[in-house]
Amino acid sequence: MTKSANTMWGGRFAAGPDAIMEAINASIGYDRRLAPQDIAGSRAHAAMLAATGIITDTDAEAIREGLLTVLSEIETGAFPFSTALEDIHMNVEARLRDLIGEPAGRLHTARSRNDQVAVDFRLWVRDQCDQADEALAALQASLLGQADAGVDWVMPGFTHLQTAQPVTWGHHMLAYVEMFARDRSRFADARKRMNTSPLGAAALAGTSFPIDRQMTAEALGFDRPMSNSLDAVADRDFALEFLASASICAMHLSRLAEELVIWSSAQFRFVKMSDKWSTGSSIMPQKRNPDAAELIRAKIGRIFGANVALMTVMKGLPLTYSKDMQEDKEQTFDAADNLMLALAAMTGMVADMTAERENLKAAAASGFSTATDLADWLVRELGLPFRDAHHVTGSLVAMAEGKNCDLPDLTLEDMQTVHDGIRADVFDVLGVENSVASRTSFGGTAPAQVRAQVAHWKEVLK
Ligand code: ARG
Repeated sequence: MTKSANTMWGGRFAAGPDAIMEAINASIGYDRRLAPQDIAGSRAHAAMLAATGIITDTDAEAIREGLLTVLSEIETGAFPFSTALEDIHMNVEARLRDLIGEPAGRLHTARSRNDQVAVDFRLWVRDQCDQADEALAALQASLLGQADAGVDWVMPGFTHLQTAQPVTWGHHMLAYVEMFARDRSRFADARKRMNTSPLGAAALAGTSFPIDRQMTAEALGFDRPMSNSLDAVADRDFALEFLASASICAMHLSRLAEELVIWSSAQFRFVKMSDKWSTGSSIMPQKRNPDAAELIRAKIGRIFGANVALMTVMKGLPLTYSKDMQEDKEQTFDAADNLMLALAAMTGMVADMTAERENLKAAAASGFSTATDLADWLVRELGLPFRDAHHVTGSLVAMAEGKNCDLPDLTLEDMQTVHDGIRADVFDVLGVENSVASRTSFGGTAPAQVRAQVAHWKEVLK
C-alpha cells in the first residue's frame, strides 16, 4: 500500500484519489451531523458483537470507551475531521483506531457502510419527526390561544378571496389547528413506518456471522429488524415520507403566512403584527413589513424542492446501494432545518399578533356577506324555491350596489319593490352576528360550535 492510498480499502489501490474525485466523493462536509447517530449505531453493533461472541468483551469495552471519547471530541469541536476520510463513518472509525488501536478494526465486522448509513440517517430522520411533532403542537397551542380569545369575533369568510359569508375568528384559527393536526399525524405515521432497523443487512446480502439483529434493533429503539437485507440498504422511503410530510406542512404554513401578509396590510388591518415579528423600511418610515410571514411563505420552495430532488435521485436506481444515494442528506437536512425554523417563527408570530376586532367586524358586514342568509330567509319564511330566492337576493344586492350601501341599509319599502312578501323581520338575518350564530351545523361557524371545538382542542393539546 502506498502512503496516499485509503487506509480503509487501500489494500488493492496503488494510489490515492484525484483531488476532484475526493471533492465530489466526500460527504463529511455535511454528514458530520450524523455523528451522534453513527456512534449510537456503532455502540449498539459492538455490544451485539460481544454478546454473540463475535468479538471479545475486552475489545467491545475498548470500542465503547473509544466511541465515547470520539463523541465528546465532536461535541467540543476538538475532532479532527478529514475530507480524505470521505464521510462520518470513516472519520469516526479512523479516529477510534488512533485512540484505541487494533480493537477498532474489529468494529466493522459483519457491517458495511451501506447498512451503517441507512441506520444513521434513519435515526436522524426519526428524531426530526419527533421534533416536528413538538413544534407543531406548540404552533397549535398558539393558534388555539388566538381562537379562544376571539371565539365569537365576526370576520368575513372568503371564497376566491371575495367576501362570502361571515365567520368567526375562532373558527378561522381552528381551521389551521386542524391542518396542523393532520401534519402531526402524517409525521407520526411516517415515523411508525420508518422505525425498523437496517443494521445487520451489511453490504446488501446479510452476513455469515451469527449476529443478533433483534438486539441491535432494540438497542436503537427500532420496533424490529428489516426483513430483507437488499431492501434495508436500498430504501430511502423514510426520508421521502418525512419530506413529503414536511412539504404538506410547509404548504399549510405558506397559506397561513399569506393570510397574515394580507391581513396585516393597510387595506385589511385584520391583524397587527407585533414589533417582534415586523421589520421597517430604510426609506419609507410608515412601513411595517411582515418579513417573517413572507419568508415562511417562501420556505415551501426549498422544502418541496428537497422532496422533488430526492424522489428524482431515487428514481430508476437499481438495487441496492448506489453512491447517488449520498445525495439524500444535504437537502433533507436543509428542509428539516427550515421547517423547524418556519414552525418556530410562525408559533411566535401567531402568539404575539393582535386581531383587530372592530376592523374584522366592519369588514364582515361589508361586501353583502349576509346575502346567503337573506336567500335562506326567503326560502324558510316565504317558501320560495332556493333558485328563485337566489335571484331575488341578487336583485336586492344589485339595488344596494346601486345605492352604494349594504343590504341592511336598504329600507323595507325598497326590498318590497323586488318581492312584496318581504317583512321587517328579514333584518334580523342581515346582521353578521345573527348570521354566524345561525350556522349551528356540526363544524359550522356558530360560536356555540366553535366554543365546543376550542374546548375539544384544549383537552387534546393539554
Ligand atoms: N457516505 C456514504 C453515503 O452517504 C456512505 C455509504 C457509502 N457506501 C459505499 N458503498 N460507498 O451514502
